[in-house]
Amino acid sequence: MATSTDAEVIIELDSVYKIFGPQPRGRALQLAKSGMKKNDVQAATEHVVGMTNVSFKVHRAETFVIMGLSGSGKSTAIRTVNKLHDITDGRVIVDGVDVQALSGPPLQQFRREKMGMVFQHFALFPHRSVIDNTGYGLKVQGIDKSERDKKSLEALNLVGLGPFAHSMPRELSGGMQQRVGLARALAADPDVLLMDEAFSALDPLIRRQMQDEMMAINAELQKTILFITHDLNEALRIGDRVCIMKDGAVVQIGTPEEILTRPATGYVAEFVQDVDQGRVIKVLEVMQEPQPVVPGTTLQQGLESLGERAGAFVLDDAGCPRAVLTAADAVRAASVGSTELEAGLRTDFTSCGPECTLNEIYAAAGRGLPIACVDDSGRLVGNLDPRHIMEEMGRVENLIDDFEREVFM
Ligand SMILES: Nc1ncnc2c1ncn2[C@@H]1O[C@H](COP(=O)(O)OP(=O)(O)OP(=O)(O)O)[C@@H](O)[C@H]1O
Ligand SMILES: [Mg+2]
Repeated sequence: MATSTDAEVIIELDSVYKIFGPQPRGRALQLAKSGMKKNDVQAATEHVVGMTNVSFKVHRAETFVIMGLSGSGKSTAIRTVNKLHDITDGRVIVDGVDVQALSGPPLQQFRREKMGMVFQHFALFPHRSVIDNTGYGLKVQGIDKSERDKKSLEALNLVGLGPFAHSMPRELSGGMQQRVGLARALAADPDVLLMDEAFSALDPLIRRQMQDEMMAINAELQKTILFITHDLNEALRIGDRVCIMKDGAVVQIGTPEEILTRPATGYVAEFVQDVDQGRVIKVLEVMQEPQPVVPGTTLQQGLESLGERAGAFVLDDAGCPRAVLTAADAVRAASVGSTELEAGLRTDFTSCGPECTLNEIYAAAGRGLPIACVDDSGRLVGNLDPRHIMEEMGRVENLIDDFEREVFM
C-alpha cells in the first residue's frame, strides 16, 4: 500500500472551509479564517463551522482514515469529495479534477465512474434481491442486465456472498447486509471508495471480520479508500494513515505508529489511551543497532562492551545470532573463574522479525533477555532491549498523565 509522499495524489483537500448557515461566506468565514474556534464562531454569528482549514492528500491505493468524535466534521469532509456538499472556501481535487466546478450530468458521471460509497446504514432496497441491490448503480448507468449480473456476481464473490445472490436483504444478517453494501460499491469498479462509518453498526466481532476482509480484498484490488470512523482502534487497524479531526479542524495526520508514539496534542494523546499500544508498534521502531560481540573477545572484554545494554548477540559466520551474552551471565561465569566468552553465553533467546508488533514479543520480553531482530535470512538486524519494550508501551500513558496534570491542576 502506498504511503510515500511521492505517490500519486488521488484526493486532495486544500484549505477547505465549510460553513453552515444562511450566509456562509460572510463574517463566519472571515472569523474561521482568522483562526477563531468553531464554538466561538457559532456564538458570534449563529453559523456552524463544519470544516475549518482542512487540508490533506490521499495517495493512490492508500487507506486514509478520518477519525474524530461526533460532530467533528468527518462526514462533512467525505461529502465534499463527491460534492454532496458544496464547500465555502478552498479546493477539492479528485484525480486532477476540480470537483466544485462539476455539476449536472458531468458530476453524476464523475461520481458513478470514480467513486463508490458505503454508508453506515446499509440502505438496501428491501424488495430487490441481493444481486439486484448490488447491480443497482450499474443499472442507473444503463448497463444491460446480463453484464450487470456478471459484474454484481464478481463483486458478491469478492465479499463472500456469491451463494446469496438471489436472497432477499431481510434474509441476511447485519454483517451480510453490510457486505452487500460493499459489493454494491465495488461492482462498478471505481478507483475510490468513500466509506462513512461503514462498519459502525456491526457488533465488534463481525466488525473486525469485516475490517480484515476489506483489507484482504483491497490488498488485491488496490483501491484508494477514504474511510470515516469515530473508533480509534478501527482507524489504527485499517489506516495506512490516520487524520484526526476535532471541531472541524485537522489535529494530526500520521501513520498509526506516529499517532500512537508521537501524539501531536493532548487531545490525541487522550484518544490514544484507550488503544492497546503493543498491537501497532513494530519492533523496528524500538530496536537498536545490533552491535554484536566482536569475534575473539574474552569474557571480561565482552562484559565491558555491554555498557548499559541488556545484552549483546554472538553471530555465526553468516551473521545470524547463535548466542547472547548478558551482564548477569558474564558476572556469574567470571565469579566461578571462567575467562572464556563461551562460558557466559546462553542460546535460549527469542528472535523475531522487524515487522513483528510489540505485543507478539511481550511475553518473551518478560524474561528480561534481549530479543534478536533478524531479517528473512536470519541475520541480525537489531537488538531489542526488553526494558525499552516496557518503556515504549508505557510512554503514551505518561503523555496522558502529563496532559491531565496540565488540564486539571
Ligand atoms: N446540513 C447541515 N446543516 C447544518 N449543520 C450541519 C449540517 N451538516 C453538518 N452540520 C454540522 O457540522 C458539524 C460537523 O458535522 P458532521 O456530520 O460532519 O460530523 P461527524 O464528524 O460526521 O459526526 P458523526 O460522528 O456524528 O457522524 C456539526 O457541528 C454539525 O452539526
Ligand atoms: Mg458522520
